[in-house]
Amino acid sequence: MSLTERYVLAIDQGTTSTRCIVFDRRATVVAVARSPLPQSYPRPGWVEHDAARIWRDVRKLIPQALREAGLEPGQVAAIGIANQRETTVLWDRRTGVPVAPAIVWQDTRTAGLVAALGHGDLLREITGLPPSTYFSAPRIRWLLDQDPSLRVRAARGEILCGTMDTWLIWNLTGGDVFATDVTNASRTQLMSLSALDWDARLLALYDIPAAMLPEIRPSSAHFGTSFLGVPIGAAIGDQQAALFGQACFDPGDTKCTYGTGGFLLMNTGPRPATSTHGLISTVAYRIDGQPPAYALEGSIAIAGSLVQWMRDGLGLIATPSEIETLARTVDDNGGAYIVPAFSGLFAPYWRTEARGIIVGLTSYITKGHLARAVLEATAWQTRDVVDAMNADSGLTLATLSVDGGMTADNLLMQLVADVLGVPVERSMVPETVSLGAAYAAGLTTGYWTDLQDLRNNRHRAGVWHPAMPPAHRAAEHARWKRAVEAAVFVSR
Ligand code: G3P
Repeated sequence: MSLTERYVLAIDQGTTSTRCIVFDRRATVVAVARSPLPQSYPRPGWVEHDAARIWRDVRKLIPQALREAGLEPGQVAAIGIANQRETTVLWDRRTGVPVAPAIVWQDTRTAGLVAALGHGDLLREITGLPPSTYFSAPRIRWLLDQDPSLRVRAARGEILCGTMDTWLIWNLTGGDVFATDVTNASRTQLMSLSALDWDARLLALYDIPAAMLPEIRPSSAHFGTSFLGVPIGAAIGDQQAALFGQACFDPGDTKCTYGTGGFLLMNTGPRPATSTHGLISTVAYRIDGQPPAYALEGSIAIAGSLVQWMRDGLGLIATPSEIETLARTVDDNGGAYIVPAFSGLFAPYWRTEARGIIVGLTSYITKGHLARAVLEATAWQTRDVVDAMNADSGLTLATLSVDGGMTADNLLMQLVADVLGVPVERSMVPETVSLGAAYAAGLTTGYWTDLQDLRNNRHRAGVWHPAMPPAHRAAEHARWKRAVEAAVFVSR
């Protein structure tokens, strides 16, 4: 069988589920196997995953996806891995057993440690990341601090540490390959963004032995051979994978994945951009043998979860899709704005103390206006991050590529186009994270030839053009900004 008649299998190991998806050469989804991932909240602010279960799920889902597609392993050209970033696990090299539950990216148990560590400027300068509980390094430090013998064993290379890509590669290859990719490594806060290697100053600062860390490889590169005999051709953080799956290969190309939150990434080209507007500077991807591409990233903490709150917290809707129906019962927000700072505000504000508010209430306001304000809140938060991206990168957003569950809401898509003043394009393939991992893996094994080959696969399922008059946009933007100030004010 010729290479191009084969398929590529992607593993998307996300925060709330693990998926295996089979794609053909035209990026058509041939089969999907999925397993939900239980969340564990043992204490306030703690979030844990069972890494052994994650591996068991992947071990089970791969054959399931192949069965569904009617394929033998020999018909698969490559496996690509995309994963939730920053979530960290430590395990015993000899037994392969995790020494503790994986600590998830949302976990804030290291807040005290981060505050005590200081060195914010040094961290920003070397890694492009601000001091935060979000990244892996404080979690590794916290785990090593729990048991002093662990640090000694880690220094001897007996205890290994990895994000979910590394954990899966190690298991898929039967312990042969201990590696991560540049995008995942760029979220540990231990890697130099320019050297693309572990930084000795940061290892010393966090007191983390180098011997426990994996080798850093490009994202689209060989990561060994899986138990099926199929080569692993890529590992890439899930938000970077979505950027790759959207074919955002040129500087200025930007995507937003709308799920419970929103993740915006703008490709900034072959050199890291420095953010002075509250964004994260990160690696977008690296193809083996080529220079890396960097990105600016801004995260919105609450997007789809505001819709969930309307359903579960307020009971105003029965299903998420009803938010659009309800919002369409009115022509505008009636003067009401919702700032969903449920756990503070993320980029570009970074105000952890801010709290959510609804402003502009009069007796005229109906639940339709509130539904509209919910959708507008997601649109304006997108605008805030895009403004910061334009300012930091010196580039101007021309179109926004979107994916994720919330993009099924056509009114939201129109509102995003309206407040940004640029077209919004929805991807034909909703599974852009998996597609990005598949693309990166397929490039490694020659299944796809080059980036142009991938661009040719790019199909849009919808395009929304801005329709809001500029003067109205500016006035609404000013009111949104005042609402954000009020959200910061109520926390005082
Ligand atoms: O940085 C965290 C992000 O990678 C998680 O994404 O889609 O797994 O929630 P998701």
